[in-house]
Formats: sequence, C-alpha cells, structure tokens
Amino acid sequence: MKKTVTVVGGGTIGLSVARALAGRGSTVTVVDPCPGSGASWVAGGMIAPYSEAWPGEEELYRLGVESLGLWEGFARDLQPFADGPLITSRGTVHLAVDDGDAADLETIAAAVGEPALFGPLRPSAAARAVPGAAPRIRAAAHAPQEIAVDNRLVHGALLAACRAAGVTFQEESVRSGDVDDLPGDAVILCAGADSAALAPELEVRPVKGEVVRLRRGPTCLPPPEVTVRARVRGRQVYVVPRADGVVVGATQYENDHDLGVRIGPVVELLDDAFTVLPFLREYEFAEVTAGLRPTTAGNVPVIAPLRGRLFAATGHGRNGLLLAPVTGARAADMVLQQEVQAWS
Ligand code: GLY
Repeated sequence: MKKTVTVVGGGTIGLSVARALAGRGSTVTVVDPCPGSGASWVAGGMIAPYSEAWPGEEELYRLGVESLGLWEGFARDLQPFADGPLITSRGTVHLAVDDGDAADLETIAAAVGEPALFGPLRPSAAARAVPGAAPRIRAAAHAPQEIAVDNRLVHGALLAACRAAGVTFQEESVRSGDVDDLPGDAVILCAGADSAALAPELEVRPVKGEVVRLRRGPTCLPPPEVTVRARVRGRQVYVVPRADGVVVGATQYENDHDLGVRIGPVVELLDDAFTVLPFLREYEFAEVTAGLRPTTAGNVPVIAPLRGRLFAATGHGRNGLLLAPVTGARAADMVLQQEVQAWS
C-alpha cells in the first residue's frame, strides 16, 4: 500500500496531503517554487462551516462540519512544530447592521438548522461578547463551536511536520506539459488557483480576495476574543483576532490572476469593519495582501482521480484552512486506494 507520490503545490492543502501520505508510510516529494506563498499566506484562518452555510451548499457544509471535527486533533498534532499557538480564538459572533443583513443571518440559521450551532444572540449578549462593538447593531447571531487559527503559523508547522516525516521539497515550478512526466506511483495536483493551467479538465477559477492586517497600538482596545463577522448593508466583512491585532477580510471578485491591490474595494472593506468595530480606526495599518481563491462552479473542492496516476485535491475556494484536515485524510485514502469511493 505504500507509494511514491509527487504532490504539486506546497500550500496548506498540498502539505496536509503530503503529511497524511507520509504518515501512512509513503515516500512524498512536494514540488513548489515557494511553498505557502499563495492563498495560504493571505487567509484569515476561520474554521467556520456554520457561518459559511448557505442554501444549496449542503455538500460543502457536510464536508466543512466533518473537517471542523478533525481540527482539534490536527492542531494538537501540529502544535509541537509551531512557533506560537495555532488556535487563536474560539467562537464566532455575527453582527447585522440593517434588516437585509438580519435576514441573511436567519437564512444561515435555517441552513444549519440547529440553534446551538448557529443561533440568534441577544444584543446585550453580543455587546458582552464583543466589547467596543457599535451600538447600532440590528441583530446578532453566534456559532460557539467555530475556531480561528493563525494561517501562517499553521503553514510553518505543516512545513516542519512534513520535513520531520521525511517529505522532501523541490523548489521548482511545474509547467502544464510537465505533469505527466513527474515521477512517482501517483501525482496529486494541489496547486490552488494554478490547478486548471496544469490540468485543463479541472474547472477551477481564481476568485480574488484582498485582506488587511491591523496591529494593535499601545493605547488601543484589545482585539475581540471571538471572530467577528458582520453584514453591513449587504456586504460581508470579518475580523479575526491575532496575538498582535486583527485580520480584516475580505473582498471577493472575479479578476483572473491579477494580484494587484485595488484601493477602492479595500477602503470599502475597512469602512465596513469600522462601522461595526469603530475602535479599529485607532489600530496601526500593518499589511494588505491579495490572494486567489481556487474556486469551482459548485464551491465544492475536487478530491478525485483525474487520469492514470494523476489525482487532484484542489478547488477549496473560501475554505482551504477549514478543509485541510479532511482533504489530507481523503486524499491519502484515495491515493492509497483504501477506499473505492472517489469524491468530487
Ligand atoms: N476564508 C474566507 C475568505 O476566503 O475570505
């Protein structure tokens, strides 16, 4: 059952797959010119299947809930390889500014169907959970079992854990014509937004997102202790706590492979964050980064055989961090042929 496997792509998904395969005795090589420099670096780190629930996305929801269930063990195993705590907060609070935003929270609650997992929160409870939130909140909800992780620490820990498990790295680019010549019993494409360029049968397109990092200054209120997600007049914004500040995300639009930061959408994003958490205006600007979410038509990732010894684990869209543990496990099953079912 042990195999020699080449993993194309050293982001969070590629490394989760590599580590799962190496943990089951396979000889694994990861090929990536700069591991972790893509969407894994930009992500907010929300492990949030309930908050992402939406009618029509039931398959993605089930996969996300399964992966959230794996995250505590995944983080515990990776923690010894990390430079700091991987889990940065527990619980998500949603704030809605107008009636349309409040209706969206009801839609999510109906999609989840279990108030203990995603349910309404009284304004007084929301104010206690998020000190400094604006008073003009129309409605609130919470998802107490969700967590957030530091995406960059997770990637660093995965790299160290892979190396400790004997995974080797080739810091090289793979071109489309090269895929069939890569060595190994199996080649698995985990190349994020570049996946379709390597295997045209993969209908994975880039959906751009810009994310801002703010640092707490010496006189500022502390970051929230929970992830705060808000709907501000129909637009979504999230504020994810970090040890030294917050991550504010994210814009979302189709824009091919362009990684330039557009100032208009970023200003709107910050304006929405300040509408619900006015004290963030006092934070220091640290960074703005753009990434490309590898997105499929149905928003469900492709974890499937493609042809011959070629497999794919890609197309994780907004949910790469969330789906890393379940993708590693399922991709290893698939490649090692311990399960006959293919997921797509
Ligand atoms: N994971 C949230 C986003 O893609 O913006």
